[in-house]
Amino acid sequence: MNLPKAELAERLKLKQFPRSAKYDPQWVLENQMGPSALWLTEWVCERMELKKGMRVLDMGCGKALSSIFLAREFGVEVWANDLWIKPAENWARIREAGLEDMVFPIHAEARSLPYAEDFFDAVVSMDSYHYYGTDDCYLSYFAKFVKSGGQMGMAFPGLVRDFDGAVPEHLTRKQKSGGVFWAEDCWSFHTVEWWRNQWGRSKLVDVEHVDLLPEGWRIWLDWERTIVAAGANHFPADDEALEADQGRYLSFVRMIARRRS
Ligand SMILES: C[S@@+](CC[C@H](N)C(=O)[O-])C[C@H]1O[C@@H](n2cnc3c(N)ncnc32)[C@H](O)[C@@H]1O
Repeated sequence: MNLPKAELAERLKLKQFPRSAKYDPQWVLENQMGPSALWLTEWVCERMELKKGMRVLDMGCGKALSSIFLAREFGVEVWANDLWIKPAENWARIREAGLEDMVFPIHAEARSLPYAEDFFDAVVSMDSYHYYGTDDCYLSYFAKFVKSGGQMGMAFPGLVRDFDGAVPEHLTRKQKSGGVFWAEDCWSFHTVEWWRNQWGRSKLVDVEHVDLLPEGWRIWLDWERTIVAAGANHFPADDEALEADQGRYLSFVRMIARRRS
């Protein structure tokens, strides 16, 4: 890491996310795969009722930071499900965290999950659900793994408002880092209204809450600057696009729902 640990810790300390601030900043940055998994998880958990011993599915857990956080903070058992990261890699991190009785790494594609229906007390997903959950047929497949009455909590990048025409120029121009913010995958970014409709029309769930992270763009920008300063970025930095955006379009969407009986 290019930054001293104390400075890293200071940068990662946000008053709205006190639980996340307790985690080793080097561990957090070494295992990051995008916007802070811990911050997003803490934000989602504000609206969830997680109790000790519950069975939780963490969909698209990446390097299992959110899974480790959930087990530590709430005493839940977590099925840490991911596609790109090998379960053996996550198992090493889980063992290092001393959570081998509580976090179980699973390799599975979102559309081909190896779980029993009604198995989980809750499902969560950080910075992942938008990769597959925009498919109109997905919720009816996914919701059945949660018990009736169980909660579903997600957070992922989204839009403050839809574009009025083409993608705004500040999101498509080449940044000094060499990267362009708006990749083709970004078409999975949608507004709060879009997501509320996507789940709200379904008979399978009751939507409890959908909102944007206040100052989401700024939190994302500060995160991006920190990973660049620390030399922990895997991709060309997007700070220039986030700065130019000033929260006009980019933020994070949180969505909480409950499986109907
Ligand atoms: C940007 S990473 C975020 C990882 C982690 N949740 C975090 O916040 O650090 C997106 C994750 O979604 C997972 N993912 C994407 N498409 C998936 C799919 N079709 N099935 C299962 N997981 C998927 C990937 O394996 C990846 O780890």
